[in-house]
Amino acid sequence: MDDFVELVFPDGFLWGCAVAAHQVEGNNMNNNWWKWEQEGHTLDLSGVACDHYNRYKEDFGIARKLNLNSFRTSIEWSRVEPREGVWSSKEVEHYRRVLQEMRRRGLTPIITLHHFTDPLWFAEKGGWEKPESVDIFDCFVRKIVEELGDLIPFYTTINEPMVYVVLGYVFGVFPPGERDLLKAFSVARNLLLAHARAYRTIHEVCREMGYPKPMVGFAHNMMMFEPLDPKDERHVNEANTSDAIYNRWFLESIHTGVVQPPVGQEEAEGLKGAWDFIGLNYYTRSICIPSPDPSRRFAVVPMDAELTDMHYEVYPEGLYKLLVSLKKYGKPVYITENGIATSSDRQRCRFIIRHLAEAHRALRERVDLRGYMYWSLIDNFEWNEGFSKRFGLVEVNYKNLKRTPRESAYMYAEIAKRNAVTAELAQKYLGRSKA
Ligand code: BGC
Repeated sequence: MDDFVELVFPDGFLWGCAVAAHQVEGNNMNNNWWKWEQEGHTLDLSGVACDHYNRYKEDFGIARKLNLNSFRTSIEWSRVEPREGVWSSKEVEHYRRVLQEMRRRGLTPIITLHHFTDPLWFAEKGGWEKPESVDIFDCFVRKIVEELGDLIPFYTTINEPMVYVVLGYVFGVFPPGERDLLKAFSVARNLLLAHARAYRTIHEVCREMGYPKPMVGFAHNMMMFEPLDPKDERHVNEANTSDAIYNRWFLESIHTGVVQPPVGQEEAEGLKGAWDFIGLNYYTRSICIPSPDPSRRFAVVPMDAELTDMHYEVYPEGLYKLLVSLKKYGKPVYITENGIATSSDRQRCRFIIRHLAEAHRALRERVDLRGYMYWSLIDNFEWNEGFSKRFGLVEVNYKNLKRTPRESAYMYAEIAKRNAVTAELAQKYLGRSKA
């Protein structure tokens, strides 16, 4: 029999789940994703989604029953600012109740201010392509912090800016459906500067208002890029280039204070050190082969790979490698997303334990890892894939919106309760095929 040892996590470790407003709330009719859906780009329309807007109490109740101590969600900009400069006090009050409920349930809120969706009015005036976007977003950030900052200890300013850029402006599969590298560069720059500005604004407003000092970072999607043939220099170069641009461009820009090439090479005010932590969203590896067509860069999957329903390779070791690579920035790290779409909940259980084993390996190498948010608490609207992909620890029946925890939910609850992956759990779910 395999010998599994108990993997104990540090005291105060955050165990949570992540969701995003548009994917769960329902009826976010005033943003660019709603429009994208009406134009027929997605498998389903988000519609009422999981009706989390009305059922958040039930969902936080479930999270609490699962022994979670934290929860990551986003505030939908298009609700709070339905027209430029016009604020909806009704929606601000809604999010105040949401935050209060989270805290009442002992869930530390981790709040994202931009999770892929843009208000329609903002998208219509050029969105993140325009340099003014930085100021426009800053007004929203200031409003949220003034109104709700007393309740928010953690901010992830922008979710996966690189995914927003690559899918929206390189591959053209997310709104606005562009394939334009020059625009992609402008959008990347503006998102970076908007993050840095938001970082400063959040701290400034909290100081002015006498709110507790929050932790501010952004949620960064990283992929483990590896060459198909490590002996072929062209493959290695390809992997290194993807890593430099996709994984490192944001990180290095904030670390050095210099907007990195190919987008720039100049210092930007307030950029250096604009983070208190790094949020890592990790899902998969990408095997690199040289290709003049950027859309082929993510396409190679090893023949024997275990796949998710998103056709991503399950590659837990990548989490370890990326965590170790973040050590150089000297900042605490939170895994702000990690999860699997699968119709086999056993596969989900294995996925979680194997990734936690790799996270623990990184901890043993002194990575300052402080939390893990599973994506996602409940099945939800998976962007272009609609409701077809099931990421949840909790199943959502889309006919009656009933929530039913899966076995993985109980497994995760046990981990959160013990602050450890016990040898028994690892044995039960990994058996002979050890992580
Ligand atoms: C995004 C989520 C998405 C998840 C699963 C992440 O890239 O932040 O919104 O649902 O991946 O694909």
